[in-house]
Amino acid sequence: MTDKIVGRYRILDRLGEGGVGTVYMAIDNRLGRIVALKFLRHRLLESPQTRCRFRREALIAAALNHPNICTIYDIDEHRGRPYIVMEFLRGRPLSERFPGCFDTHSVLDVGLPLLHALAAAHARSVIHRDIKPANVFIVDNGHVKLLDFGVAKAAEFDEGHLRPDQTTNPGDDLDTGIGRFVGTVGYMSPEQARGETLDARSDIFSLGTLLYEIATDEQPFVGSTQAAVFERIFHADPPSLPCLNPALSPALVRVIDKALSKRRGARYQSAADMLVELEQIRPPSQRRGPRTTRLASISEFRPILSEDISSTVLDRSLPRRTVRREIESS
Ligand SMILES: Nc1ncnc2c1ncn2[C@@H]1O[C@H](COP(=O)(O)OP(=O)(O)OP(=O)(O)O)[C@@H](O)[C@H]1O
Ligand SMILES: [Mg+2]
Repeated sequence: MTDKIVGRYRILDRLGEGGVGTVYMAIDNRLGRIVALKFLRHRLLESPQTRCRFRREALIAAALNHPNICTIYDIDEHRGRPYIVMEFLRGRPLSERFPGCFDTHSVLDVGLPLLHALAAAHARSVIHRDIKPANVFIVDNGHVKLLDFGVAKAAEFDEGHLRPDQTTNPGDDLDTGIGRFVGTVGYMSPEQARGETLDARSDIFSLGTLLYEIATDEQPFVGSTQAAVFERIFHADPPSLPCLNPALSPALVRVIDKALSKRRGARYQSAADMLVELEQIRPPSQRRGPRTTRLASISEFRPILSEDISSTVLDRSLPRRTVRREIESS
């Protein structure tokens, strides 16, 4: 095995890193297509239970087939290190959008496809558990895709589970190996922050935090420590949406507020229920299915790679050592 060949894939570039692992762009040598490989962090691999959970969650997510869900092609191991092979998305994560509030239609352009994706996943009893802007991709053609189904669940392990009494500052690297997971706490539902058993309504709450953020350019629950963020998630009402963005449709404000109810019983009981209400906000002539939902307002985003990947990727010369070092050490 050479330094940049992983199974039938040749690593081409490093795309980024999250709490769970590092993502690379690669080419599938057999099918000749570009894919994304996500390697689980070394530190998360110490527990055989975690490895097993990672594989199981990836297999469950791989069964999802939906235009608004990033497709998982395969799961494999490289030198004992599991990785997921998934659809390579050309575009930008929502976390890298330009600053500023979205208007009502743009919030719908993001929210509706995400609800279609969640409704399909929940129908198969799959909960996402880590809905946040970094896990939502705006593809260059304007389509919205949800990534990383179940991966957060797979990465949780007993001694590393986030607790309300932890006081780590956002950005700190926890000894547990979860690392940047702390950045995710602001999107957690109250029951998730308490470490309780989750159901689909937890995803509804997290989606509410995401829609609130794009509608106002502010996260609803912030604090200087993780414990402070949890405190707000448990007890505080976020600043009123119309105060931060007076142009928002009152109907949209009601939908987001309901999704952010502290008690699960007061929220939408399913993604399908929330979808119906969100759909009503759009004039009938503009209602579309999930596949054709386009995000015109941020379609001017520059792609990750400016060159045409399909024509140039095979000739690209790589910093081989750098890529190898990153795969082995991340
Ligand atoms: N399928 C993909 N296609 C293209 N780029 C991707 C893909 N998946 C991830 N990326 C890129 O890799 C970066 C890291 O992704 P990753 O999921 O590891 O991080 P994260 O979402 O911030 O954290 P988390 O581990 O909590 O999911 C993303 O921000 C994105 O730029
Ligand atoms: Mg992610």
